[in-house]
Amino acid sequence: MRRLLIAGNWKMHKTPSEARVWFRELKRLLPPLASEVALLPAFPILPYAREAFQDTQVAYGAQDVSAHREGAYTGEVSARMLADLGCRYTIVGHSERRKHHQETDALVREKLLRLLEEGITPILCVGEPLEVRERGEAVPYTLGQLAAALEGVDLQDPRQLVVAYEPVWAIGTGKNAAPLDAEEMHQAIRSALSKRYGEGFAARVRILYGGSVNPGNFASLLSMPNVDGGLVGGASLELESFLALVKLAG
Ligand code: PGA
Repeated sequence: MRRLLIAGNWKMHKTPSEARVWFRELKRLLPPLASEVALLPAFPILPYAREAFQDTQVAYGAQDVSAHREGAYTGEVSARMLADLGCRYTIVGHSERRKHHQETDALVREKLLRLLEEGITPILCVGEPLEVRERGEAVPYTLGQLAAALEGVDLQDPRQLVVAYEPVWAIGTGKNAAPLDAEEMHQAIRSALSKRYGEGFAARVRILYGGSVNPGNFASLLSMPNVDGGLVGGASLELESFLALVKLAG
């Protein structure tokens, strides 16, 4: 019922020229897929993503967006610009933005609204830091982030949203969440979405797991009924490991 999504979050890696070569290779090697593949490179790479992937099975998008629509906001990139480049997805609320750029839940919500206005699907990242998990408060903390980002946000179609559960302690550390812990969280997120948007919506919306996904742990995470794919950082940078993940999703 839910098409798996494998999304590569490249963060601040690769130059446009490097990406162009990588994209060409990916196109050459990618088998026909039942799951969906998306790449989320840095802004300057997006025109090359469009050049490579327009009218292909590969989607692409950005890692962040401005909370403003247009105007005197030096250094910002608007949702309208991303839509013009053909972005299908864009990350909001990644923990690195929350941490290094002091992004609040309220700001994340504004960004999410800007994307929805332009018909871009937000990949909304939520997840707890280590001390919160150790206190046994991971689920309420994460659901709190979800509720704050979606406060008053009207959604009709499950394709308008992707949620990524990314425990902060698992990102870039080599320590992934145990599949059953991920499943517990994904279930909690789905049931919160069901309360907010109805059962039909919640049954179809995709909830990705992110945090040290690699070809060695992905199959066991994907075997969980509420894990609908992965938001992948490090392992999305090398063609070989990214293709291995995509093939595991099938
Ligand atoms: P990682 O990053 O796969 O390198 O842990 C995931 C992410 O930050 O989205």
